[in-house]
Amino acid sequence: MSSPAWETKVIHAGHTNYSNALTTPIFMTSTFSFDSAEQCRDRFMGTDPGYIYSRLGNPTVTALEQKLAIMEGAEDAVAVGSGIGALTTLVYAAVKGGDHIVISKSLYGCSWAFFTRGIAAFNVEVTPVCMDNLDELRQAIRPNTKLVFFETPANPTNCIIDIAEVTKIVRESDAKEAIVAVDNTFCSPVICNPIAHGADAVMHSGTKYLSGHGDVIAGAVCGSRAFIERCKLHALKDMNGAVMCPMTAFLLIRGIKTIHLRLPRHAENALALATFLEKHPKVKSVEYPFLPSHPRHEIAKKQMSMGNGIVPFILDGGREAGMLFLNSLKLATIAVSLGDAETLATHPASSTHSPYTENELEFAGIDPGLVRMSVGLEAAADIIADVEQALEHI
Ligand SMILES: Cc1ncc(COP(=O)(O)O)c(C=O)c1O
Repeated sequence: MSSPAWETKVIHAGHTNYSNALTTPIFMTSTFSFDSAEQCRDRFMGTDPGYIYSRLGNPTVTALEQKLAIMEGAEDAVAVGSGIGALTTLVYAAVKGGDHIVISKSLYGCSWAFFTRGIAAFNVEVTPVCMDNLDELRQAIRPNTKLVFFETPANPTNCIIDIAEVTKIVRESDAKEAIVAVDNTFCSPVICNPIAHGADAVMHSGTKYLSGHGDVIAGAVCGSRAFIERCKLHALKDMNGAVMCPMTAFLLIRGIKTIHLRLPRHAENALALATFLEKHPKVKSVEYPFLPSHPRHEIAKKQMSMGNGIVPFILDGGREAGMLFLNSLKLATIAVSLGDAETLATHPASSTHSPYTENELEFAGIDPGLVRMSVGLEAAADIIADVEQALEHI
């Protein structure tokens, strides 16, 4: 038999036969017993591979981690309690006081807050750059740069950053050992695998497409075995304790079994909506990378197998127009988060990106009239009809 396809491997990975159960059971236990004091000692020494305590590992979470590693083409993965838990795990594993980080100026609001106000308070310098300008990136890297971090497509603008080019610049710099890490939440591993384009590590808010059903808060980091060990044994165990609940792991395992079916439908619906919006007279611009008119369409095609499910667009009329549009929707739900079966709409300047100051919003290219739609799995015609009637109110 030839090597199984990606989805076949993902569906089966990590499952262990427990009493012939088809699905991996939820090991809802905080701790694990030992047969003897010697076995307990050996587990702590790492010479006996069994479980100790669920902050250090849990069988349901392990099953999920094995799927995540296969999905991202990584040696290993660690599942954690939230996307921000994944970010802090990754950063604590990559840097210490005195180090320097380069970040993209286009990031999810709480990630931006962590870099510019959270970790920056611990003697770690952070330089935000416009990472689609490779010269700016080149100039920002210093010998003590230990992490280069970005989202592509970025939240909320869908800004596309060339993963292979960023990696090349880092490898040719004075900081060639720096970890290049990508937040792949906006794509999911179905659409993009940053490690295949040269990145060292990938993180996800598992709350989004990995779950796909809007019922968990979750996160994950994928990377080399050595890096994930540092995430587990230093960042997660000693620093943030942001572990994943086994019940959450169970729900993610369930969501992941259909991810290869869900994402093409999100992409198809999103392209249909973006195509409609592009021609609408009340829409200033649509930021959808799989529209041929998008300025970074060629880079998007190089590193993404299809478009993502997010359609940001700018309305004339700033904040007022953005908020009026949301209030006029009938089918789509006003909600932050993304990647669910239901179409969700948000106004980033007043919600997800409210941690940005007015100046930072401008720096990050977040227009006050920007609306972000997470296009769901409903019929495209129904989503478009709802958006069309909402635009009539503006
Ligand atoms: C791109 C991105 N990264 C990280 C996060 C944080 O994830 P969580 O809310 O699961 O902590 C989010 C949340 O919206 C996000 O959109």
